[in-house]
Amino acid sequence: MHPVEPSLRHKLLAWLLGPLLILLVLDTAFTYWTSVSFSNLAHDRSLHEIAREVALHVKPNGSGPRLDLSPAAEKILLVDQDDRVFYKVTTAGGAVIGGDPQVPAPLKLRPDSDKPAFYGGTLHGEPVRVVAARMPFGEGAASGTVIVQVAETLNKRNRLARDILASVVVPQLILIVMATLAVYMGVSRGLGPLARLERAVSHRSHLDLSPIDVRDVPGEVRPLVDEVNELMLRLGKTLDFQNRFIADAAHQLKTPVAGLKTQIELALREPEPERARHSLAQLYVSADRLSRLVRQLLTLARNEPGAMDALQLKALDLNAFALEISMEWAPQAIKHGVDLGFEGGGAVIISAEPDRLRELINNLIDNAVRYSRQGGRVTVAVAQAADGQGQLSISDDGPSIPPEERTRIFERFHRLLGGHTEGSGLGLAIVSEIASLHGARITLEEDLDGVGNTFSVIFPPRAAEG
Ligand SMILES: Nc1ncnc2c1ncn2[C@@H]1O[C@H](COP(=O)(O)OP(=O)(O)OP(=O)(O)O)[C@@H](O)[C@H]1O
Ligand SMILES: [Mg+2]
Repeated sequence: MHPVEPSLRHKLLAWLLGPLLILLVLDTAFTYWTSVSFSNLAHDRSLHEIAREVALHVKPNGSGPRLDLSPAAEKILLVDQDDRVFYKVTTAGGAVIGGDPQVPAPLKLRPDSDKPAFYGGTLHGEPVRVVAARMPFGEGAASGTVIVQVAETLNKRNRLARDILASVVVPQLILIVMATLAVYMGVSRGLGPLARLERAVSHRSHLDLSPIDVRDVPGEVRPLVDEVNELMLRLGKTLDFQNRFIADAAHQLKTPVAGLKTQIELALREPEPERARHSLAQLYVSADRLSRLVRQLLTLARNEPGAMDALQLKALDLNAFALEISMEWAPQAIKHGVDLGFEGGGAVIISAEPDRLRELINNLIDNAVRYSRQGGRVTVAVAQAADGQGQLSISDDGPSIPPEERTRIFERFHRLLGGHTEGSGLGLAIVSEIASLHGARITLEEDLDGVGNTFSVIFPPRAAEG
């Protein structure tokens, strides 16, 4: 079983929506991340500001620094609507001179740098964000540095992050849903003509071989539909051909079969053995004629235009082949009082299927011999043209075929009026079909000697064969 190819709609949706959704998710993450880090930066700055304010209250005191921060000032400095703020002041030597000793110490703070360090930690069981900075105090000989740390709980930051999340993600989500809808609708609309095409084809009767309307068909599928229409046209022709053939065959067989039946009835009723024998001999002739007709019909069916695929061409010497067949015809020619001659030269190699080519030559010689007048000449000639084309000509001394009939005699069952010769009008139709299977061309001209006709079959040069 062939793996089922996913539908075009699914492929389009996957290719459009997949990357679009990934882009939107990345965009959301990036926007969220940058907004949160900017707001953290602002909060970190104000934390650093508080640390600087605290440092302003460190005063030199004899041997070391002292924190001079009144409870009132401390309250003003540390009070915050949402968060609890803690601080800790440590001397360079590590002694805590003020604030909450439990504020987590920085991992490392470079002794020569006054750049603040920001870090996270836990204080009294709550996560906090801490700033630690080295701050100068005093002047002249009494000056020095202390380490000031300020810690703040995360309520404000967390709320802001949530707010940002809501304001960024919700619109992005709405955007995602709308983009999905737009893509889905776009794809559906875009594929609409294909769906209509499918309906138009699936609702068709199997007898309707009219071309599919291409007006509404998108450019991409147009070549495909054109090909299908082309195929239907060919199919229609083949069906027509076969229907016509069946009708013709039935019509042509009906009369001789009915005749045969009547003749048998008459023969059965005949009491006299001698006359019954005579009837039987007539019956034999009729049956022979019927069998020839059936054979011709089968030959026609075998050589219909669709038989091209079954054709097995091989290189063949037309000169030798035509000579051999002409010789087989000699007794028949003598019987008709016709002088059958052959004109040929060297080998003329063509591509052909021997059985079909024999059928073609037989039919042409048969006509020439049958329609030539008593004592007439029939000449079979083979020649090679300069461009490699092989040519077979058969000239006879029969009645000239009028120009207006020269195309029609190749039609099935078409015979010239006024003839007395037996025939069903299929010979030249068979010749024409076999010639076209071989890519050969037939011409019919008045014979060069002014009496009779010359039928020529011109085979394509061998190199032109596929
Ligand atoms: N060489 C010829 N000279 C004169 N008339 C010809 C010649 N060949 C064909 N015709 C005419 O063309 C008609 C069609 O020929 P075609 O071979 O198709 O059928 P047919 O000979 O009548 O019957 P059959 O099916 O037995 O061949 C003939 O009936 C005849 O009138
Ligand atoms: Mg014939």
